Amino acid sequence: MPSKILSDHRRAFGEFDAVDFVDDKEIASLRGKIDVDVPLDLHWTWEYGSEIEELRNLYERGKKGQWNAETDIDWSQAFPRGEWFMPREGALMLPSILTAMGADEQTCRRAAFDEFAHLLSQLLHGEQAAMQLCGQLTNACPTMDAKFYAGSQVIDEVRHVEVLSKFLERKMGTLYPIDPTLKILLDMLLEAPTWKTKTLGMQTLFEGMAVGIFDNIAKATTNPLLKDIIRRVQLDESRHAAFGILSMRQVVKESTREELEHMEDFAFAILEALNANQQLDMLRLLGPKYGLDPENVVQSTLALPEWPALNSEIFMHTVVPNLKRLGLITDRTEDAYRRIGVVYGDRFEPQQDLGVAS
Ligand SMILES: [Fe+2]
Ligand SMILES: [Fe+2]
Repeated sequence: MPSKILSDHRRAFGEFDAVDFVDDKEIASLRGKIDVDVPLDLHWTWEYGSEIEELRNLYERGKKGQWNAETDIDWSQAFPRGEWFMPREGALMLPSILTAMGADEQTCRRAAFDEFAHLLSQLLHGEQAAMQLCGQLTNACPTMDAKFYAGSQVIDEVRHVEVLSKFLERKMGTLYPIDPTLKILLDMLLEAPTWKTKTLGMQTLFEGMAVGIFDNIAKATTNPLLKDIIRRVQLDESRHAAFGILSMRQVVKESTREELEHMEDFAFAILEALNANQQLDMLRLLGPKYGLDPENVVQSTLALPEWPALNSEIFMHTVVPNLKRLGLITDRTEDAYRRIGVVYGDRFEPQQDLGVAS
C-alpha cells in the first residue's frame, strides 16, 4: 500500500487518521493557486467511424438529453430562507447535531441553509473541475468515440456550472470558496499524466461520488425548484459515470497486472483522503458560528456504533460498486477500505441503474 496523500496534514482521532487544515494562510494560498501545470498528450485519430458502439450510443443519448439551464428551469419558484427544504435530521450534519443538542428550530434552519450552501458550493467547484478535465480528455483520448463523448460532456458540465452558480447566486445569495482538501484532490486529477488516470479519477471516482450526493439531495429535498435542478443534473451525471465505466472497462482489459495495481492504489489514495477529512473543512468554517467545536464533533461522530454504516453510505451508493465491478477493489485493498469506514456490508450493487450505458 503506498503512503497516504496529504501526509503533512494528518491528525489522529484515536485510530482514525484525519486530514485537517488549520492554517488560514495556507488555505488562502491553496485557493489562490489558479494556474496549474498540466501535462497533456494530444492524440489525433484518422478513424472517424465508430469503433466502440456502446460509447457512440451513450453519446447519442447525451444529445437527446440536453436541456437549457436558463429556459427549461422555472426560476420563478421560490427557495425561502424561512422554510425547511430538507428534513431537520438525518440529511445534513449541523442541523442533526444541533437538534440533538436541543437548539431552537430557527437556529437549526439557519445551520441547514449555511451547510447546504457550503455543500452546493463545493459541488459547483467540482463541476468546474469536471468541465476542465473533460476538455483535456477531448484532446487526450485515443478514439473518436471517446473524443465525441468527452466533447459532449464538456457542454453538460458547463451547464452544471451554470445552473448551480445561478441557484447559489439567485436563491441562496452565497458562494463559499473551495475547501482545501477538495482543491488538492481536484488538482491531482487535473495534473494526472495519462488519459487513463484522468478517466479513472474524474469519471469513475468523482462522478461516482457526485451521483451518490446528488441522489441523496434529490431524495431528501422538499423544495420543487431544487428537486428539479438536481434531478436534471443527476441524469447527466449518471451518463458520465457510465462513460467512466465503459472506458475503464476497456482500459482494465488492456492493462498489465502492475498497471492495475497502480490504478487500484490510486483509487484508494484519493478516496481515503476524501474520507479522511470527515467534513472538518466545513466544520472549521461553520461550526464555531453555531457553538460547535470541530474536533469534538468529529470525535463523537467517529465514536458512534453506527458510524461505519452511516459513513460508508455515500461511497457504497455508486463509486465502490463500480470499482468492484472493474476489479479495482480486490483482496489487496478491501480490508483497508473497511478499516476506514468506506466499505461496509456486502451489498455491492450500484444503487442507481446505469442502464443508460446499455
Ligand atoms: Fe457535472
Ligand atoms: Fe459529470
